[in-house]
Amino acid sequence: MKVDILLGLQWGDEGKGKVVDVLTPRYDVVARFQGGPNAGHTLEFEGQKYVLRSIPSGIFQGDKTNVIGNGVVLDPALFKAEAEALEASGHNLKDRLIISKKAHLILPTHRILDAAYEASKGDAKVGTTGKGIGPTYTDKVSRNGLRVGDLLHGFEQKYAKAKAYHEQILKSLNYTYDLSTLEKDWFEGIEYLKQFRLVDSEHEINGFLKEGKSILCEGAQGTMLDIDFGSYPFVTSSNTICAGACTGLGVAPNKIGEVYGIFKAYCTRVGAGPFPTELFDETGEKICALGHEYGAVTGRKRRCGWIDLVALKYAVMIDGVTKLIMMKSDVLDGFDTIKACVAYRLKNGEETDQFPFDIAEGIEPIYVELPGWKTDMTHMTSEDEFPEEFNAYLSFLEEQLGVPIKIVSVGPDREQTIERYTDEEN
Ligand code: GDP
Ligand code: IMO
Ligand code: MG
Repeated sequence: MKVDILLGLQWGDEGKGKVVDVLTPRYDVVARFQGGPNAGHTLEFEGQKYVLRSIPSGIFQGDKTNVIGNGVVLDPALFKAEAEALEASGHNLKDRLIISKKAHLILPTHRILDAAYEASKGDAKVGTTGKGIGPTYTDKVSRNGLRVGDLLHGFEQKYAKAKAYHEQILKSLNYTYDLSTLEKDWFEGIEYLKQFRLVDSEHEINGFLKEGKSILCEGAQGTMLDIDFGSYPFVTSSNTICAGACTGLGVAPNKIGEVYGIFKAYCTRVGAGPFPTELFDETGEKICALGHEYGAVTGRKRRCGWIDLVALKYAVMIDGVTKLIMMKSDVLDGFDTIKACVAYRLKNGEETDQFPFDIAEGIEPIYVELPGWKTDMTHMTSEDEFPEEFNAYLSFLEEQLGVPIKIVSVGPDREQTIERYTDEEN
C-alpha cells in the first residue's frame, strides 16, 4: 500500500507529464487531484508527442487504472476532444479511466466569466488560460457548482439555474458573448462523458489501497501557483501543493509516502505576476529558444529566468518533498556560467532567503555563479557519464535544498531520463 505524489515546485510546466509517464510502470494507479484543462502535460516517446490536459499521464503505460479525482474541474467538451484524439491514436480509455462523481463541471458560462473577469481587470489581469478555472472553483466554494454526479439526476434544471445565475453576472459586467457553439459542444461532451465509469473515486482509491495497490498522484500547475501559498493573486484557483492530493482524492495524510518535487534547471512562468529571477536580456531569449518555452495549452511564450532557490526552498518545505527531479538540464548544456538565486534583497535593503509575503515589487535576486558544463548531455544514459561541473551543480542544489536529486532529465523523450543513487533502495 502506498500513495506517492509528484508535483511541480515552480510556476508550472516543469515536465510533470513526462516523469509521471516514466514512473507509471512502478504503480498500479495514476490519479489527477486538482486543476483542469488549464494544465498541458507533454509526453514524448517512440517519435510521438502527446499533450494531456485533463487525462492523467499514466494512460500510455499498459493497463494501469487512471483516475480523475474529486479535486479536478472537468470541461466535458475539452475532455471529449482530448479523449477522442487519444482513442483515434489507438489508446483505449473507457476501461482504464474512471472519473469522480464529485469532480466539478466547467460550464460554458464559466469560460465566458473567466474572460469577462480578466477583461474587467485592466492592467491587473492574471493572464489565465481562459478555461474557466477560477469561476468553476468559485462556484464550488460558494456551493453553487455542478458536479459530474449531477449528470445522473435532474441535470437540466441544475444547469439552467447555474446558467441563469452566470448570465446575470455577465449582464452586470456589460459583457457581450455568444454561447451557441460553446453550449452545443458542451452538451455533446456531456453525452460522451456518460459512457465512462463515473464513480465515488474516494471509495475506489481507498479500496485499491486495501488491496495493496500503489498509487501515483499527478499534480498540475506548480507550488508557486497554489491558491494559498503561491504568488497571490497571480495564481490558479486550486491547492497545487502536496496537501491538495489528500483533499483532491480522499486520501488520508498518513497514507502518503514519497513526495517527488519536480523543477527545471532554470525557471519559467507563463501569464502575469511577479518573477524575481526573470531575464529580459539575450540569456532569457536563449533559454526560451533552446527550451522551446511556449505554453502547451495557449501557445503563449513563457517568461524565462535563472533558478530561484528562495522560492524552491519554500516549495520543498510546503510540500514535504522527499525526492527531487531536475528537468531540462540539456537547455543549459552550452552555457559558460549558470546562475542560481540564493537570496532576495528586499526594497528596504534587507537580505532574506525566506520567501516573503509580497514578491511583487522591488525584489532584487542575489546570485551565485557556477561554471557551466559545456557538454551535450542529451545522449547520456547514466550518471557515470556526467561532467564534473554538472555534478557540482547537482551537489550545490542538493546542499541548498536539503533533498537528494533522484532523477535528471536530459531531453523531452521518455528515454532521456537518468536515475541517480540507483544502488540505494528506491
Ligand atoms: P508539465 O505541464 O509540467 O507536464 O510540463 P509541459 O509539458 O507543459 O512543459 C514541459 C516541456 O518540456 C514539454 O514540451 C516537454 O516535452 C519538454 N521537456 C520535458 N523534459 C525535458 C527535458 O529534460 N529537456 C527538454 N529539452 N525538454 C523537456
Ligand atoms: P501545467 O499543469 C503553467 C497559470 C496561468 C495564469 C494562472 C491562472 O501545465 O503546469 P488559470 O487558467 O489556472 O486560472 O490561470 O496560472 N497556469 C499555468 N502556468 N502551467 C500550467 O499548468 C498552468 N495552469 C495555469 O498562466 O498565470
Ligand atoms: Mg504544462
